[in-house]
Amino acid sequence: MAVVTIVGAGVIGVSWARLFGAAGWEVRVSDPRPDLRELVDRELAGVPVAATGDLAEAVAGTDFVQEAGPERVEVKERMFAALAAHTGEDVVLASSSSSLLPSVIARGNPAADRIVIGHPFNPPELMPLVEVVPGPETSDRAVDRAIEVYRELGKLPVRLKKEIPGFVGNRLQKVFNDQCAYLVQQGVIDVKDLDDLVRASLGLRYATIGPFESGVLGGGPGGMRHLVSHVGAQMTFEPGEADPARMGEVLDAVEEAYGTGEEAYERLARLRDGRTRAVLEPLGWPEPASADGDRR
Ligand SMILES: NC(=O)c1ccc[n+]([C@@H]2O[C@H](COP(=O)([O-])OP(=O)(O)OC[C@H]3O[C@@H](n4cnc5c(N)ncnc54)[C@H](O)[C@@H]3O)[C@@H](O)[C@H]2O)c1
Repeated sequence: MAVVTIVGAGVIGVSWARLFGAAGWEVRVSDPRPDLRELVDRELAGVPVAATGDLAEAVAGTDFVQEAGPERVEVKERMFAALAAHTGEDVVLASSSSSLLPSVIARGNPAADRIVIGHPFNPPELMPLVEVVPGPETSDRAVDRAIEVYRELGKLPVRLKKEIPGFVGNRLQKVFNDQCAYLVQQGVIDVKDLDDLVRASLGLRYATIGPFESGVLGGGPGGMRHLVSHVGAQMTFEPGEADPARMGEVLDAVEEAYGTGEEAYERLARLRDGRTRAVLEPLGWPEPASADGDRR
């Protein structure tokens, strides 16, 4: 049985552990938190998991590492130095990082050729995407192996051609979220109405087709070329930017709309997961891979 070590048992690590466990991997989880045992019993009930605070013990003889520790460069550097020292030369060291460049995480690391970003969207056990981002020193072999593992898990790995801050998913999300905050700050729309607007339009659209494909269809038989010169030509407004000094107002409005704390988190996560599960299968996830590995 293949062995995976998940480093960090927070929101993302726990979800990775469920995913690997469900796919038949032997799962080990490493995290120095004192409540690790209780956390594993609560969050990973039914998943056969070995949990330890000792990283060297957790990676001994492992086949694949999925790091999901804190998003702090000095912590990642330390974790990857230890991972390099305690894993075999053919073990891929994948980081879940949302934004840290692989070249930065791998700086001075003797295993830089094995370090790659495998960035999931939350929660990894449900969201199909894993962004696979190589650094300049990452070997093709490590990238290919990471992609193979994520496909085995039923994910859709998308390989970036090179690293860029925020990768692709979070660059898009940053621009989009900034505009959402700007529209609330400008008094154009309330938080919940904006969420409804997105769910009922762009969210549903992008669950079925991507923005370029949408451009093709939006232009009718003339395709995206027609859309760009017709409707697109009128979109000449300046989008504006959210004022960072007024983010407090936006956060207050979000908290008022949805609540905060454990109860709100559990309730909203249940709603999100239920809805996500309900649409995945009808939308055809996981997409079957074709013989050459392309999905469509
Ligand atoms: N939360 C998200 O939406 C999301 C989405 C995609 C990717 N990510 C990425 O996943 C990673 C984890 O994020 P998270 O939201 O699960 O964070 P989190 O704060 O929930 O969990 C981090 C865990 O790492 C543990 N930890 C601290 N030091 C450690 C060490 N030396 N070794 C092992 N574990 C250690 C902490 O005890 C904690 O349990 C980050 O790199 C983040 O950017 C997060």
